[in-house]
Amino acid sequence: MYTFLELIKKRRSIRKFEDKKIPQEQIKEILKPALLSPSSKSKRPWKFIVTEESEKLELIAKCKPFGAKFVTDASAAILILGNSEQSDVWIEDCAVATTLIQLAAEEKNIGSTWVQIRKRKNEEGEPAENILKESFDIPESWNILAVVALGYKQKERSSYSDDDMEWDKVSYEKF
Ligand SMILES: Cc1cc2nc3c(=O)[nH]c(=O)nc-3n(C[C@H](O)[C@H](O)[C@H](O)COP(=O)(O)O)c2cc1C
Repeated sequence: MYTFLELIKKRRSIRKFEDKKIPQEQIKEILKPALLSPSSKSKRPWKFIVTEESEKLELIAKCKPFGAKFVTDASAAILILGNSEQSDVWIEDCAVATTLIQLAAEEKNIGSTWVQIRKRKNEEGEPAENILKESFDIPESWNILAVVALGYKQKERSSYSDDDMEWDKVSYEKF
């Protein structure tokens, strides 16, 4: 078992995965913290779509030119959706949930990477979100913040240490 800080240090973005399925119960465990994460006015304006289908993973990999290719080799991906009609701060709410998904995965030694979808476009200038919305049957009022790619790590990356903490970003009482 890790302390919370040890878990935080251990989590690194993983983009190379083993060709191995993640058991459904593990995916469920990974989603539990997200479903309990804090949200403004406790509105929980989110939805999580799990995909394991290779065509869908490939579609995610191709929905933007940079930073998504590795999703083809992921064992699963979770799309994090937020509803702007349900909350004006759905982005913040969904970002918190996304972070917890990554930490929950790490706790099970499952690698993950946040793949940004909101504000990203494909090579033709079409929003990545629109491409995914169509294939995943996502209604108009829902937005996609990100996708978390998941899989067993091909290689462990080095953990963060206390030296990686930029304490000059912290001040007291004044900027
Ligand atoms: C809001 C956000 C968007 C990100 N988008 C991507 C992405 O589209 N593709 C990717 O490979 N990594 C993405 N990342 C992962 C970052 O590149 C990564 O967290 C950063 O380089 C630090 O590395 P670490 O996660 O190993 O600590 C994103 C991370 C955040 C928080």
